[in-house]
Amino acid sequence: MAKRKKKKQVQRRTKRKKERIKAKKVANAPKEEIKKELKISAIEEGTVVDHIPTDATFKVAEILDLENHKGIVSIATNLQSKKVGKKGIVKVGGKSLTPEEVNKIAVVAPDATVNIIKNYQVKEKIKVKAPDVVDNVIKCSNPVCITNNEQVATKFYVVKKDPLKVKCHYCERSMGKEEIEII
Ligand code: CTP
Ligand code: ZN
Repeated sequence: MAKRKKKKQVQRRTKRKKERIKAKKVANAPKEEIKKELKISAIEEGTVVDHIPTDATFKVAEILDLENHKGIVSIATNLQSKKVGKKGIVKVGGKSLTPEEVNKIAVVAPDATVNIIKNYQVKEKIKVKAPDVVDNVIKCSNPVCITNNEQVATKFYVVKKDPLKVKCHYCERSMGKEEIEII
């Protein structure tokens, strides 16, 4: 009886041992140094979308189809910003944006800045601007609208820029910021 109990204890102990994850000691790890700020790496070549409202950060990533991008992608949000309170930032290595992508970004992030990076330098800084007419970017929320039933590209007029309000060219449906869905 006592023997069996001991065997069980040993079994339990080895099981616990297996479950434990051993922390590896890193040679020369600095002991006292605590870095208060770790910046997202600079990129060599590509595009940085800055000053994105925090709730639109992942929307920008979606617009740029970053899930399928093969180069470096850094997405950060809820960062402290001197200009806009909190902001998001999206850095994409090896990608330049098409005018259509910039227009789409303007719809979800009207205050964003698009920085074009070449050889680690900011070569161009584009302040996005919500266009007066938005072609093929926004989905019409009206299920009977022709754009939802036939192969017709959507077209919206910007009625108000801040907060954004748009009107469908085909069915005249008005949509506010909350209802706007990107194609
Ligand atoms: N950036 C980067 N890689 C580089 C150069 C710049 O990722 N090689 C990023 C910076 O981190 C910053 C943005 O691109 O988020 C714009 O860079 P810069 O114009 O140098 O910064 P700011 O002066 O702060 O820009 P702004 O005035 O638009 O706020
Ligand atoms: Zn419509």
